[in-house]
Amino acid sequence: MRDNGIRLLVAGGAGFIGSNFIRYILDARRDWQVVNVDKLTYAGNLANLEDVESGERYRFFRADICDAEAVGEIVAEGEPEAIVNFAAETHVDRSIDDPALFLRTNILGTQVLLDAARRHGVARFLQISTDEVYGSLGSTGRFSEESPLRPNSPYAASKTAADLLTRAYFKTYGLPVLITRCSNNYGPYQFPEKIIPFFVTLLKKNEPVPVYGDGMNVRDWIHVDDHSRAVEAVLLRGRPGEVYNVGGGNERTNIEITKLLLAAMGKPESLLRFVPDRPGHDRRYAIDDTKIRKDLDIVPRVPFEEGIRETVRWYLENEPWWRAVQSGEYLSFYDRWYLQKGRS
Ligand code: NAD
Ligand code: DAU
Repeated sequence: MRDNGIRLLVAGGAGFIGSNFIRYILDARRDWQVVNVDKLTYAGNLANLEDVESGERYRFFRADICDAEAVGEIVAEGEPEAIVNFAAETHVDRSIDDPALFLRTNILGTQVLLDAARRHGVARFLQISTDEVYGSLGSTGRFSEESPLRPNSPYAASKTAADLLTRAYFKTYGLPVLITRCSNNYGPYQFPEKIIPFFVTLLKKNEPVPVYGDGMNVRDWIHVDDHSRAVEAVLLRGRPGEVYNVGGGNERTNIEITKLLLAAMGKPESLLRFVPDRPGHDRRYAIDDTKIRKDLDIVPRVPFEEGIRETVRWYLENEPWWRAVQSGEYLSFYDRWYLQKGRS
């Protein structure tokens, strides 16, 4: 795809990765225009984009990606050359608590976007997927793009279905689609339900942090800016119909992450609490990112210790941002979740 003057539609741009990506791309590509379409669920927050919202190259539409009419109108009016779909229900624990919304947004919503892209002849459709579609690893091995799809949670199953629909639109209609499958992101503006911001906000309040099971589950952590760079590269230079894994090359157990955060915040290890495990908890994720390294010259750049230090500092300096979302529905989810855990 040409790289100048692109009109880009970003779905789900008010969430964690979407908002970081919009900020990144408006800065990196000074002649691009971005339309952000977001339903503003509990995880969507326009405060994430306060610093870019008044710019002439950015517009926001509040819409549900499952609403075909609204999406059709936005695409017809904006005539984007490319669509990147970040919009999703994303929290594994919530998908265990109540899967229905995950199927609706992550599968049907993706299909609505794919259809709009097809009808309006967009040059690129990039589906933001996840390494969770591959399931779980033992103590060795890594996921490649050829690994079998073996999702274990309702969230992962819904993302897998979306990947398969995306592939079907390439095979059936020739829509120029791409898929990225990234590992666990961290960085500023992550909703404080995912382990790193959840634990930082608990520790700031001197509350204990709940580590699931034995705490030896492994995730591969990547800074959100490295993910944004990978998304940009795949969008511009990826081969339509292809899948690209994106990883941080940075495997850590949850215990390691927890101890790192305790140390970074000067808190005692007595605040670490083991709690009953997440049902179906994937043991280990690890990414083989040879393809994106070789074909697109993309490698993660942010060193983990530095990225974590900056991320902790960001949450400490932006307490009003996370305090504002920790009420109402946020608290009632935890009441329900820990009531269930108590029973298991
Ligand atoms: P997030 O939960 O922070 O943000 C999701 C955004 O999607 C929110 O702004 C929300 O309002 C919006 N949204 C949800 N349902 C919608 C709907 N029906 N219509 C329109 N907008 C809707 O999620 P995130 O962590 O930023 O993840 C973004 C994408 O990246 C997701 O597709 C996720 O599966 C994928 N991903 C996330 C990670 C990670 O570590 N967070 C890793 C790999 C892939
Ligand atoms: O791998 C990519 C995926 O990473 C994304 O597709 C998902 O959208 C994103 O939510 C994330 O999924 P995880 O389930 O890996 O992230 P989470 O932060 O929920 O959990 C990370 C690890 O920490 C996991 O092993 C579960 C554990 N955990 C999590 C929470 C919230 C705890 O031990 N205690 C907790 O309270």
